[in-house]
Amino acid sequence: MEVRSESIQVRCDKIPASVIPRTRLRIWFIRVCSSIVLWTCLVQLVTVSELWHSHLISGIASRIHYKTQHPLYVKDGVVQAPPPLLPARNYTSNGFLRVSCNGGLNQMRAAICDMVTVARFLNLTLVVPELDKTSFWADPSNFEDIFDVRHFIDSLRDEVRIVKRVPKKFSRKHGYTTLEMPPVSWSNEIYYMQQILPLFGKHKVLHFNRTDTRLSNNGLPLDLQKLRCRVNYQALKFTPKIENLGRKLIQILQEKGPFVALHLRYEMDMLAFSGCTSGCTEEEADELKRMRYGFPWWREKEIVSHERRSQGLCPLTPEEASLILQALGFGREIQIYIAAGEIYGGERRLAQLRAAFPRIVKKETLLAREELQQFQNHSSQMAALDFMVSVASNTFIPTYDGNMAKVVEGHRRYSGFKKTILLDRKKLVELLDMHHNGTLSWNEFADAVRQTQEKKMGQPTRRRVIPDKPKEEDYFYANPHECLCEGSNCEDLLGPSNSTHV
Ligand SMILES: *[C@@H]1O[C@H](CO)[C@@H](O)[C@H](O)[C@H]1NC(C)=O
Ligand SMILES: *[C@@H]1O[C@H](CO)[C@@H](O)[C@H](O)[C@H]1NC(C)=O
Ligand SMILES: *[C@@H]1O[C@H](CO)[C@@H](O)[C@H](O)[C@H]1NC(C)=O
Ligand SMILES: *[C@@H]1O[C@H](CO)[C@@H](O)[C@H](O)[C@H]1NC(C)=O
Ligand SMILES: *[C@@H]1O[C@H](CO)[C@@H](O)[C@H](O)[C@H]1NC(C)=O
Ligand SMILES: *[C@@H]1O[C@H](CO)[C@@H](O)[C@H](O)[C@H]1NC(C)=O
Repeated sequence: MEVRSESIQVRCDKIPASVIPRTRLRIWFIRVCSSIVLWTCLVQLVTVSELWHSHLISGIASRIHYKTQHPLYVKDGVVQAPPPLLPARNYTSNGFLRVSCNGGLNQMRAAICDMVTVARFLNLTLVVPELDKTSFWADPSNFEDIFDVRHFIDSLRDEVRIVKRVPKKFSRKHGYTTLEMPPVSWSNEIYYMQQILPLFGKHKVLHFNRTDTRLSNNGLPLDLQKLRCRVNYQALKFTPKIENLGRKLIQILQEKGPFVALHLRYEMDMLAFSGCTSGCTEEEADELKRMRYGFPWWREKEIVSHERRSQGLCPLTPEEASLILQALGFGREIQIYIAAGEIYGGERRLAQLRAAFPRIVKKETLLAREELQQFQNHSSQMAALDFMVSVASNTFIPTYDGNMAKVVEGHRRYSGFKKTILLDRKKLVELLDMHHNGTLSWNEFADAVRQTQEKKMGQPTRRRVIPDKPKEEDYFYANPHECLCEGSNCEDLLGPSNSTHV
């Protein structure tokens, strides 16, 4: 295009105006020439602007591309060369593993780590996991809306092949059937080798339609435990969109000093399903009960709230959390970031906490409405922001030990045993009641709370193993102790080991 327009221009320039008589011909000639010149200019303008445009676009694209692949390779403000891709592991794949994760963001996160590990162990090709869209949270996000999928695939290529979809030639149309099943919960590698691998003799594609807690906490070979950590702490990175906003939140908080992330799990779903109504009005308790009965898959219906609470099975209320924080010695000046969705009862239920700690913030108060709008109706993306802030906080305090609390706890152990206050709720509600009925003065109460929590701050320790009771054991992702002592010598701090695998 450029070349052609130049040749037109040259021909025009070759006609000197003086040799042409002042005739109609000349006028005609001038008209033709000037319109050719005009056209030429136009064509060139278009060409140049196209060139410029495509440069700009490819510039932006390469920057975006760069960022998505290696958002972390900025050290001391200097962009480092991205690390070369590791050579892909060369193995004969036994088939394709499709997985549909169930649950909220952090339950799915742990499941993704488990499924990569299973695929690696059985020499399978993993299909990028499908995320739950029908859970209570009903978030329509796909894997690539939350995690950096390119980084996920590339950074694990020396262990396992990951593809975005099962190739068409293995579809039903070509005579292949997919076997759909949930693997047995809390299984170890022997189950997968003996029960699952043989299924690939008949089926090219296996679809695990549930993934929660499908690998056991303990007793797995060390290399598999380490792979679970590698996926969790290195391969799973949020999308640049989430990372950037999360980092912005963290920066805003850090500029104002140290901060506590309080995972105040006092949200409607939690209260409805746990049956914990302490501190609620009668109407609220009814509403929560109706909600629980409204979910057919929720098995446990009749729940006695105060019994659950005294067993330590209820999240602390905002009022209880306020007293515990004060007893632990946090002063009015401390910044508290509420890492949670909507608090049940709203501002009214936060009044006491806010009176004791005026510097309470949440993402909605730190960011402009437009910045958060893109994440609205995507609870997992919102949860990802809270996850980032919680991992980065100076102190993390979950008021209930759900999946987020546990996965963040483990992440903080991995990041150098950052302080996580693991509330002994059974003991604490007893102390709270004794303070309320006058048995304990404030000072006695505060002393007792501090004593209760002294050894529960996320210090190095080994996971508790309880044979045949996996649910009561310490969760692998809350304390992946096999992964915490690389380089530094924290073996001593963890205490003696009597597991043959460690
Ligand atoms: C993978 O390994 C097989 C068998 O060892 C070998 O024949 C093949 O060339 C290897 N492929 C690559 C890409 O290295
Ligand atoms: C996986 O592949 C490796 C070689 O890459 C082989 O040694 C191993 O036995 C295979 N395991 C399974 C379960 O196929
Ligand atoms: C998973 O697959 C099994 C076997 O086909 C089926 O019985 C079960 O309902 C499925 N579960 C889910 C959550 O889809
Ligand atoms: C979120 O969903 C609600 C109700 O479904 C809808 O009214 C609202 O417009 C949605 N917001 C955005 C930002 O999509
Ligand atoms: C105060 O509460 C505690 C814990 O519930 C209880 O054991 C104790 O008997 C109560 N004391 C009085 C005086 O009510
Ligand atoms: C280690 O052994 C002791 C007794 O020998 C036992 O009480 C403890 O539970 C064991 N711990 C682990 C992590 O297996």
